[in-house]
Amino acid sequence: MKSITDKKRDQFNSKLGFILAAAGSAVGLGNLWRFPYVTGNNGGGAFVFLYLVCIIVIGASLVIAEFAIGRNGRANAIESYGKLCKKFKAVGYLAMIAAIVLFSFYAIIGGWTIYYVIQAVSGKLIGLAPDKLGAMFETFLSNPFQMVIYQIVFLLLTAIVVSKGISKGIEKYCNVLMPLLFVMLIVLAIRSITLPGAMEGIIWYLKPDFSKIDGSIVASALGQAFFSLSIGSGCMVTYASYLSKEENIPRTAMAVTLADTGVALLAGFVIIPAVFAFNMEVGSGSGLAFVTLPQVFSNMPMGTLFAIVFFGLLVVAALTSSIGMLEVAAAFTVEKTKTSRAKATWLTTLFVFVLGIPPLMSFGAWSNVKIGGKNLFDMYDFFVSNISFPLVGFFGAILVGHLWRKEDVYNQVTGDRIHSFSLINIWYFFIKYLIPFIILMIFLQSIGILKI
Ligand code: ALA
Repeated sequence: MKSITDKKRDQFNSKLGFILAAAGSAVGLGNLWRFPYVTGNNGGGAFVFLYLVCIIVIGASLVIAEFAIGRNGRANAIESYGKLCKKFKAVGYLAMIAAIVLFSFYAIIGGWTIYYVIQAVSGKLIGLAPDKLGAMFETFLSNPFQMVIYQIVFLLLTAIVVSKGISKGIEKYCNVLMPLLFVMLIVLAIRSITLPGAMEGIIWYLKPDFSKIDGSIVASALGQAFFSLSIGSGCMVTYASYLSKEENIPRTAMAVTLADTGVALLAGFVIIPAVFAFNMEVGSGSGLAFVTLPQVFSNMPMGTLFAIVFFGLLVVAALTSSIGMLEVAAAFTVEKTKTSRAKATWLTTLFVFVLGIPPLMSFGAWSNVKIGGKNLFDMYDFFVSNISFPLVGFFGAILVGHLWRKEDVYNQVTGDRIHSFSLINIWYFFIKYLIPFIILMIFLQSIGILKI
C-alpha cells in the first residue's frame, strides 16, 4: 500500500487495519451506551426497526460516498470536500466542527467509563442492589470536579494515540481491541437473555409497534444512524484519505456498517433484557448502561472480572471513536498550518476540553440551564446528531450525486473498475435522489419546520 498513496502522508499498513480502525471509529459509545438508551426512550422495537432502515438505506450508502470523497481528496476533510467543489469546503468545516463538539461531550462519557473501570477493579461495583447502583451513579454525576478529572484522563489517552499517527497509533491499537470487544459482547448478551424474566425485554426490543412511529422517532433513528456510523463528522472522509486505490470501497463500507450495526444490536441484547429482568425503568436515559450492566455482572460467576474487562473495553471502544474525531481536526491543522502532529493534537485537545465544560456542568450546577427545553449536554448532542450530521450527509450526497461527474464517481468507488459493485446503479440513485430527499424531510421535521 505504501507505494500507492501519497508518500508524504501516513497510511494504513493493511486492509484489515483500515477496516478495524474505521469500524473502531464507528463502534463506540454510540452503540454501547447511546443506542440502548435512545431505544429505551423511543419505545423499543419500532425505533430499532427504523434505525435499521436508516442504516441500510442511508447509512451504508453514505459511508461509501464519504470513503469515495476522502480517497479522492487524499487530504483532510475540508480539502477533500473542497477538491470536488470549492464551495463545499464549508461542508468540510461543518463536519470538523461537528467532530469537535461531539468529542467535547463524548469525552465526558468516556470519563464515566474510566471511573467505572476503577470502581470495578476496587470491587465496589458488584453486588450492590439496583437502587444503590443508581445512587452511586447520581453521586458521581453530582460532583463536577471528579467528572472533570476523568474527562481529562480520557482526553489525554485519546491525544496520546493520535499524536503517534496512523500506523503506529490508531491502527495498532484497533487491531487487537476491536475483536476482543465483539467476543465480550456475545458472552454478555448470552448472560442477559438467559436471565429469568428477560423474555419480556427481548419482545419489547424486537417487536415493532408501528403505532408508536412519529416524526420525532424517525428523526431520532436517523440521528442515531449518523452518530453510530460517524457519518457527517468528517471521520470516514479523513480515514479514507489514507486509503490506497486498490482497496475495495463498497466491501469495506459494508464490513464497517455490519460491524457497527452488529455491535449496536448486541448491546441492546445485553442491556434491554437485563433491564426488564431486574424490573428497571427502560426509559431512564443516559445512565441506563451504567446502572443496568453492573446488575448483569452481579448475576454472573466471576462478575467482578467481567465488569473490569467490559468497562475496560467500553473505554477502548470510546477511545477508538474519539481518536477518529480528534484525527479530523488534527489532520486539518497539520496540513493547513504545517505545525507538528503532536502540537496540533495537543492544542485541539485543550480546546475540546474547554468546550466540554458546559455539557459537563449540565449534570450538576447548570442542570437548569436549558435551550429549547434541552439541557446543555442534550443540546450539544442535538446540534451534532440532528443538525450537523444530517446537513453534512445531505450536502455530501448532493456533491457526489450532482456535482461530481458520474463517470469519475464510478471510477473512484470501484478503484478504476478493478472491483465490481453490482449495486452501483441503485447506490447512485439513492445518493442522487432518495437520500437527499429523506434527509431533508427528516431535518425539516426535527427543527420544527415540517410536521410529519
Ligand atoms: N460513531 C461513534 C460512536 O458510535 C461516534 O460512538
